[in-house]
Amino acid sequence: MEKPTTPKWPEISERGIIARRKFLSFLAASPLVATPTITSAVATVFASLPSQALAQSYDVLRGSRQALGPDGIISAPGDALNVFEFEPAAKKAVLGQDAPAHWGYLESGVDGDVTRDANHTAYARYNIRTKRLIDARKASTGVKIFGESWSSPIFICPVSSLGAYDPEAGVTVARAAGKRGHQMILSTVDNAVIADVNKAHGSPAWFQLYPTDDWAVTQALVRRAEAAGCPAIVLTVDRQGGRNTEDLFRMRRQDQRDCSGCHTPGFANEVTRKGNFSGIDVSKVTNLYGTGMTWEFVDRLRGIVKGKLLLKGIVTGEDAKEALRHGVDGILVSNHGGRAEESGQATIGVLIEIVDAVNGRIPVLIDGGVRRGTDVLKALALGAAAVGVGRPYVWGLASFGEPGVDRVLQILDDEFITIMRQAGALTIDQITRDTVTRV
Ligand SMILES: Cc1cc2nc3c(=O)[nH]c(=O)nc-3n(C[C@H](O)[C@H](O)[C@H](O)COP(=O)(O)O)c2cc1C
Repeated sequence: MEKPTTPKWPEISERGIIARRKFLSFLAASPLVATPTITSAVATVFASLPSQALAQSYDVLRGSRQALGPDGIISAPGDALNVFEFEPAAKKAVLGQDAPAHWGYLESGVDGDVTRDANHTAYARYNIRTKRLIDARKASTGVKIFGESWSSPIFICPVSSLGAYDPEAGVTVARAAGKRGHQMILSTVDNAVIADVNKAHGSPAWFQLYPTDDWAVTQALVRRAEAAGCPAIVLTVDRQGGRNTEDLFRMRRQDQRDCSGCHTPGFANEVTRKGNFSGIDVSKVTNLYGTGMTWEFVDRLRGIVKGKLLLKGIVTGEDAKEALRHGVDGILVSNHGGRAEESGQATIGVLIEIVDAVNGRIPVLIDGGVRRGTDVLKALALGAAAVGVGRPYVWGLASFGEPGVDRVLQILDDEFITIMRQAGALTIDQITRDTVTRV
């Protein structure tokens, strides 16, 4: 078991880079740069920017000088050097709509955000063992999960209420993900309907299930997803105890809008904007998350799910073994992006425990804090079959719509194949525990 780490802001080095780029834009506009010394200093610092990690041969001039606005924020998706640069762009877009509470909702962890931040920083506890003199020109990121072929092991995590960030919500995300061959899991409480998402995606997505506390509603949601062709139902099990999303509540204080138009009290009112509930009688529902669920509920659900059944939110080896006993087909190691409980435990830190517990009998997927292609490689090396991203694609969505999601996925794919080549792993199954070392 991992020890909780000291909380740190996750993207500190990344934020440093953004600040440095901002400074360099200022410097580039200054008459001082005409002097040879400063010009070469600028060139040296530019040469150390992360974009160079992806540059091929002598591509030192990749990237536009005009990419940043005066606020140091990217103005087009193609200008982004990494996924972190979408975060301020998304913030600007959401605050520009006078919706600080929507921004708080997306960014929030729980309590002091220790777990949210640990999810990313814990990836630094693993280093990559690179192999030399391997002809890596034909590397492939293709992967098969439950017989489905994905072009990348990176999948889209379910995020509720995407309508707050894009008018077409999950449909826009599905279009971007589908074009790139990424699988996605749609949230029960997205604004888009699963059938529309599957159509936009080009092949059926997986359906994340919040079962509610009315079995008739559970059945109706599963039936709807299966009728739309979804091959997998992903039951989220980490939201039963309540939570304290402090960032959201803090940002809510600044929100001047009248929110009652959308957020009317009562479950039936709340889900009128959630397409997957349309036509379903929710009058008996008091709780979305199925408070009171036990392993018996998993058995009951197993009895009606025709395709694959996964549990999302498993973080211990004991629960993973229990999942096997209850006929589950897959596990998604997740702490809801640090939005479930403040355990301080990063998902990458518990992955091995779960992989060892299931011992290859079912696939283990992971999400939480994945921000770099190197994170993807490390998770696969530690035994994950696939790796999910949450907030980063929503940053892309909120800032630039479909092209933003597309670019976020492209950056992660590019970074991932670059590190695969450098690690001498030409296919996903060549990424093994040997590929990483614990710091
Ligand atoms: C705004 C927001 C809403 C979310 N909604 C859901 C949801 O409806 N169902 C679910 O199972 N997980 C939900 N999650 C958790 C994600 O599926 C995923 O576990 C998490 O975002 C991964 O961490 P990351 O954001 O650091 O990449 C949500 C996460 C965020 C940020």
